[in-house]
Amino acid sequence: MNKHLLSAADLSAFDIRRVLDTARHLAKVTDRAIKKVPTLRGRTVCNLFFEDSTRTRISFELAAKRLSADVINFSARGSSLSKGESLKDTALTIEAMGVDAIVLRHGASGAAVRLAGWVQAHVVNAGDGTHEHPTQALLDLYTMRQHFPSLAGLRVAIVGDVLHSRVARSNVLALKTMGAEVTLVAPPTLLPPRVETWGVGIAYDLDAVLPKQDVVMLLRLQLERQTAGYLPTLREYARLYGLDARRLAAMPGHAIVMHPGPMNRGVEIAAEVADSIQRSVVTSQVANGISVRMALLYLLLGGPAVAEAEPAPAAGQAVGT
Ligand code: CP
Repeated sequence: MNKHLLSAADLSAFDIRRVLDTARHLAKVTDRAIKKVPTLRGRTVCNLFFEDSTRTRISFELAAKRLSADVINFSARGSSLSKGESLKDTALTIEAMGVDAIVLRHGASGAAVRLAGWVQAHVVNAGDGTHEHPTQALLDLYTMRQHFPSLAGLRVAIVGDVLHSRVARSNVLALKTMGAEVTLVAPPTLLPPRVETWGVGIAYDLDAVLPKQDVVMLLRLQLERQTAGYLPTLREYARLYGLDARRLAAMPGHAIVMHPGPMNRGVEIAAEVADSIQRSVVTSQVANGISVRMALLYLLLGGPAVAEAEPAPAAGQAVGT
């Protein structure tokens, strides 16, 4: 593992397997009555969130606490940002208080890379603008591995607002590293420039693609960023690219439905699909986010010597202390 996790491109197949295998072991901590191991006792993790978040922020907080790290939650609202303090000065101020890792969510693409150049602490990109969200990709791969024996050759369709989606970018990188066959399905206006260089399939007709997929991942239509007339109407978008019960029935019986959240019910995903106990793994994705983020913090902060020398920790076993 590198010192930081800034992009899914930083991760080799070996790294991804190691995170996912470690997460599988650490998931057992969550099943215990006392959901805590002393692994990162004495370490401090700061969640530095300049953009709103429910899943990522809470699961990083739970992950760090279950490893016994101290946690600082910074949110832009109520901070000295209102007095004009910059990202750099905010980060250096927090680091001066003695943090070992900074988990950054920021609206600017490239913010995590900039931060890593300013601080000594480990930096984890928890979503930067429309660029990347590598820990979301890791938890998505973990969830796929719960349902399929191998990621190699897995057929994954990523559907919707690819243009604005950091989740899509990180998933494409990680899935390609693991040998999956990825197809992006979107209207031409919601595909990024030069998407043909991404090395994945491109399709515009969702109905033609669905019967061949093992995994269908819907992307949130980022309504707050739809400023340039990308769509005729939401109803038209839902008609052409929304996953409803009819389309779900056209998918292979073994195929699963994923969504990183938050969902626009009735737009990219129908409520009955989102709530389908048989096919939707949306809540599993959320739950798996804790184990995967525990694994990542353990591998980054436990130190290479600990991570290399010891097998992944069994439930209840103290490691890296
Ligand atoms: N998937 C995701 O990043 O959700 P949040 O914005 O709630 O963290």
